[in-house]
Amino acid sequence: MLLARSLTRPLQRIAHALHDLSVGRYSERLAFQSNDEIGRLAGDFNELARTLEQHRIMRRTFMADISHELRTPLMVLRGLVEAIQDGVRHASQATLSLLASEIATMNKLVNDLYELSLSEIGALAYRKSDVDVSEVLRRSLDAFRERIAARGLLIKAIIPPHSAVIEADEARLQQLFHNVLENAVRYTDPGGAVHVQLGADERGLSIDFEDSAPAVPDTVLPHIFERLVRADTSRSRATGGTGIGLTICRNIVEAHGGTITAKPAALGGLWIRILLPRPLAQAAA
Ligand SMILES: Nc1ncnc2c1ncn2[C@@H]1O[C@H](COP(=O)(O)OP(=O)(O)OP(=O)(O)O)[C@@H](O)[C@H]1O
Ligand SMILES: [Mg+2]
Repeated sequence: MLLARSLTRPLQRIAHALHDLSVGRYSERLAFQSNDEIGRLAGDFNELARTLEQHRIMRRTFMADISHELRTPLMVLRGLVEAIQDGVRHASQATLSLLASEIATMNKLVNDLYELSLSEIGALAYRKSDVDVSEVLRRSLDAFRERIAARGLLIKAIIPPHSAVIEADEARLQQLFHNVLENAVRYTDPGGAVHVQLGADERGLSIDFEDSAPAVPDTVLPHIFERLVRADTSRSRATGGTGIGLTICRNIVEAHGGTITAKPAALGGLWIRILLPRPLAQAAA
C-alpha cells in the first residue's frame, strides 16, 4: 500500500502539471529533487515548461514588433496618398518612388515573416549592402514632410551634399529614421521645431534628431529604450504609442554595430543621437 502510494502520488502531480501545460499554463514547476526516474522526469518537465514559456514570450514580443514595423510604413503611405488626394503633393516621379520605397519595406517585412515562420529562429534577417545614409535620411524626411507641416512644426535638416556610404540594411535604416521621426511628430507640441543633422568622418556617421518641448523626465530618460517604457502615459495613450518604437531603434542600431543615446535637447525636447561606425577596412579606404 505504502509503496504504491509513494509511487502514484508523484505521478499524479506530474499528470496534473502536464494538464496545466496542455492548457497553456506554463508557469507550473515540479519540485521533486530525487535522483531517480521520477526526479529526472520532473527535471525534464520543468525544462519543457521553461522552454514553452520562453517561446510564448518571444512570440508575443515578435508579433508586437512586427505589427509596429508594419504600422509605421502604412501610416507614411497613408499620409502620402492623402497628400496627393488633397492636392498638397503631386504624383510626381519623386513621390511615386517614396511610395514604392514604403511598399518595398513592407514587402521585406512580410517576406521576413514568411521566412521566420519556416525557420522559427525568432529574429529578423539583416541584408547589408553599401547604402548612402544621406539619401535614406533625405527620403525619410521627405516622406514626413506633410505630417510635420500639418503639426505646425518647423523642420531644419543639415545633410552634407556628398554621400555617406556605410554597409547597412537600407530598409531597416529607413525604419529606424521613421520611428524617430514618428516620435518627433507625435511628441512635439504644435509650433515647435525639429532639427536633424547628419555628420560623417572616417570613423563613421552621426545622425542627430532634436526637438522642442515636451521633454522626457530625467527619471524616464535612462529607460527610454526599454520595451513598453513611455514618458507620459496619458499622452502616449491618447496618441496610441505602445513604447516599442525606440526598443526597435536600438536593436537596428546595434545590428549595425552602432549606438543610440537619448539626452535632453537644447531646444527643450528630446535629443536622439545615433552613431554608426564604419568598418576599419572601409575607414582606411
Ligand atoms: N521626440 C520625443 N519627445 C518627447 N518624448 C518622446 C520623444 N520620443 C519618444 N518620447 C517618449 O518616449 C516614449 C517611448 O517612445 P517609443 O517610440 O519607444 O514608444 P511610443 O512612441 O510610445 O510607442 P510606439 O513607438 O511603440 O508606437 C514615448 O511614449 C514618449 O513618451
Ligand atoms: Mg514611437
